[in-house]
Amino acid sequence: MKAAALNHHDVWTLRGVGISADRLPMILGCDAAGVDADGNEVVVHAVISDHAAEFADETLDPVRSLLSERYDGTFAERVAVPRRNLVPKPAALSFADAACLPTAYLTAYRMLFDKSGLEPGSTILVQGAGGGVATALIRLGSAAGHRIWATSRSEEKRQRAMELGADQVFPPDARLPERVDAVMETVGEATWSHSLKALKPGGRMVIVGATSGTMPPADLARIFFLQLSVVGSTMGSRDQLARLVTLCEQTGIRPLIDRVLPMKQAREGIAAMVNGDVFGKVVFTL
Ligand SMILES: NC(=O)c1ccc[n+]([C@@H]2O[C@H](COP(=O)([O-])OP(=O)(O)OC[C@H]3O[C@@H](n4cnc5c(N)ncnc54)[C@H](OP(=O)(O)O)[C@@H]3O)[C@@H](O)[C@H]2O)c1
Repeated sequence: MKAAALNHHDVWTLRGVGISADRLPMILGCDAAGVDADGNEVVVHAVISDHAAEFADETLDPVRSLLSERYDGTFAERVAVPRRNLVPKPAALSFADAACLPTAYLTAYRMLFDKSGLEPGSTILVQGAGGGVATALIRLGSAAGHRIWATSRSEEKRQRAMELGADQVFPPDARLPERVDAVMETVGEATWSHSLKALKPGGRMVIVGATSGTMPPADLARIFFLQLSVVGSTMGSRDQLARLVTLCEQTGIRPLIDRVLPMKQAREGIAAMVNGDVFGKVVFTL
């Protein structure tokens, strides 16, 4: 291991969400970049499937897990994964950059380029601009030629979202200049109703997370009357991670890193995420 990135998944695990007592103790961490046993620089794909050969997309394996759910995670000096979970790391990408890709950036990649069904030049609303997935959506989406609108609770984060590539930024619940083709949701309950109202007839919401809660009022009438689609998405495949790595290498796009800390100061990074005091990714180095 050379670098590991922090995700909200690690905060959920610390809170006991998605893990049961019989699996403890468990090493946290989904994301990693490092060197394999043969000395090759690699990025670690976090989705572990014992039946990968049976699924074209291993995230559809009903018993797949993410590192740190069933098998020990990446906040460690070494991590053991199936060989197919290693993706070559190009020299042009630093270990810190590469460590940000397997969860937040892969998730954003699938949301934008697979699940949204949108062609470049579309208008996309990203809720909760400061998060790891949200900053990845802004960076990848704007680079792909989409018009990205973003919301954040913080004026400072709204300004930083503009610097990152957003076209316009808004406080939560703001009235938008027009309705959008798609909304990228990671926040959940706090932004759900705004997200539904923001969509054009026939528009699509792609949802991967619900940091603020999972049970908003569904507003079913709006969904069927305006023929909206609500599409769930989770992580991405090993092949999509390989294409994301190539995309970064070819275009020069790099993940937005909020801070890099030695692994021994992981507590500081986790506290910043819990307090919402991050804009981009937190990376731990060894
Ligand atoms: N399904 C998957 O494969 C997958 C993959 C990655 C992540 N996720 C999930 O997606 C979510 C985001 O993950 P992340 O790693 O990007 O987390 P993160 O870096 O902690 O980002 C959270 C962002 O959400 C916004 N937010 C949080 N609470 C809010 C509230 N009450 N009201 C409005 N906005 C709020 C904040 O935006 P502002 O401060 O800018 O308002 C914050 O920056 C998590 O729930 C995570 O579990 C799912």
